[in-house]
Amino acid sequence: MTDDHRDEGEPLPARENLLAAPSPVRTDGGSAAGADDVTLDPWGSASVADYRKLFEQFGIEEFDEVLPAVPNPHYLMRRGVIFGHRDYGAVAEAMRNDDPFAVLSGFMPTGDPHIGHKMVFDEIIWHQEQGGDAYGLIADLEAHAARGLSWTEIDEHTRSYLLSLLALGFDPDAGEIYRQSGNREVQDLAFELGAEANFSEFQAIYGFDGETDVSHMQSVVTQMADILYPQLDEPKPTVIPVGPDQDPHVRLARDLAERMRYFAVTEAYASFESEPEERVLIREAYDALREDGDDVRCADAADYLREHHADEAGARVIEKLENAGKEPVRPRVRFLDRRATDDAFEALIDAVDGEKRVFEGHVDAFDLSRDEAETLAREVELDHGGYGFLPPSSIYHRFMTGLTGGKMSSSVPASHISLLDDPEEGYEKVKAATTGGRETAEKQRELGGKADECPVYELYTYLLAGDDDEFATEVYEECVGGERLCGGCKEQAAELMREFLADHQEKREKMRPVLEELDIDVESPRRRA
Ligand code: TRP
Ligand code: SF4
Repeated sequence: MTDDHRDEGEPLPARENLLAAPSPVRTDGGSAAGADDVTLDPWGSASVADYRKLFEQFGIEEFDEVLPAVPNPHYLMRRGVIFGHRDYGAVAEAMRNDDPFAVLSGFMPTGDPHIGHKMVFDEIIWHQEQGGDAYGLIADLEAHAARGLSWTEIDEHTRSYLLSLLALGFDPDAGEIYRQSGNREVQDLAFELGAEANFSEFQAIYGFDGETDVSHMQSVVTQMADILYPQLDEPKPTVIPVGPDQDPHVRLARDLAERMRYFAVTEAYASFESEPEERVLIREAYDALREDGDDVRCADAADYLREHHADEAGARVIEKLENAGKEPVRPRVRFLDRRATDDAFEALIDAVDGEKRVFEGHVDAFDLSRDEAETLAREVELDHGGYGFLPPSSIYHRFMTGLTGGKMSSSVPASHISLLDDPEEGYEKVKAATTGGRETAEKQRELGGKADECPVYELYTYLLAGDDDEFATEVYEECVGGERLCGGCKEQAAELMREFLADHQEKREKMRPVLEELDIDVESPRRRA
């Protein structure tokens, strides 16, 4: 999640057909082309110059590709505000099949909750409404360690975030709200996960160095534990809705989930280990040679590949195949013993149906599919005291543009709207916002406004139009068609904002007693330092 010290945002990219989902890539309109450096720093000032780079450099996947698989997608998904994901297909599938799944996100209580946080609150709540186990957490340890906030400040903000989360519709009876500092299970899990990560890795991922506080590092393992916490009872697809600045955390959590597993399941064709690219080649040789009906030996496959793939990738696998000589090539799934107990490894061997071969540290199964093998490995792990984690999924939303143009920043109050802003003040801020309008009304009528570069239009799509796509489309079309002028458009947006804030704040008040009832200490018992 973003926090409000973080400067964020860039003008919304050009997106004709904004609502005609699934639409082609929402490019960044070329405006940011040339900005080569995309850094994802969870504690830095996250501005994403070019969202396309996130796909290319970091392997974030495009949300559009998974959108058709999502039942009743949320408006932030339909409108491309949620633009990227990792492995969200697993969550979408669980939703479609009514299988268990979870959603979790966390908030550093560093200031007042604002409309950027509202997006994430809404994402959690929507997944809860779709049947997910929902978790909202207050990252107070992180705020204390990485941002140096005192516990007094933290407590005040904690209350405020939670009131907004509840006011927007989070159901605390069905879901769970916690503070990092008050969740013993999370801290225990963090400790276990910390045994699988080391300092060099933190250096590489986060740029930590000899000056980095130990508590800051601890807050990282705590976040890893937060992300995996929904799976403590049973492994299930879990989505973490966040800003793309949190992607380094997601990647590490996916890695750690994997490293905690007792067994790794891979595919193999012979006794030696091979890389995925090598397996493609072996498969090709195997399929080609098998047509003759005879057993395919490793040496034959080597001959075949020498003829057809005399490149570098080929060379490595040819050597492996030659060394294996007369050994037959036979497809199989392989269970590698990673951190299983002896009992668990024995149990796995017993549980493998059909033909199998047991080696030191791995078992090959000849009659199991990859999926069957994955399921079996997880079952045995769970039966023997392991976690069986699935790699967590994530979705990423675009950062909002500041109302004054540029980035949204908490140090520039006019640039953002806090959920605690007086409704009148919210009204005024919208009225004073920068627009994508032309210099004169005539020009606007002639050329149309630039909705794609307009923070006010963004307010409509991210928030004010709510679920009403028709309304959002209407604003867009009227704007670019020159029928809508900025004065009236802002007036309408400002009124909606005033209404939203008044309504939200009223709901927050109603939630005070609900918050009191929750099993969470809003007053931290910690020393006030
Ligand atoms: N690091 C997040 C932020 O900067 C807060 C956070 C803590 C979080 N634990 C989390 C976010 C787990 C998502 C999931 O705002
Ligand atoms: Fe923005 Fe509205 Fe003006 Fe269009 S008409 S540029 S959406 S303020």
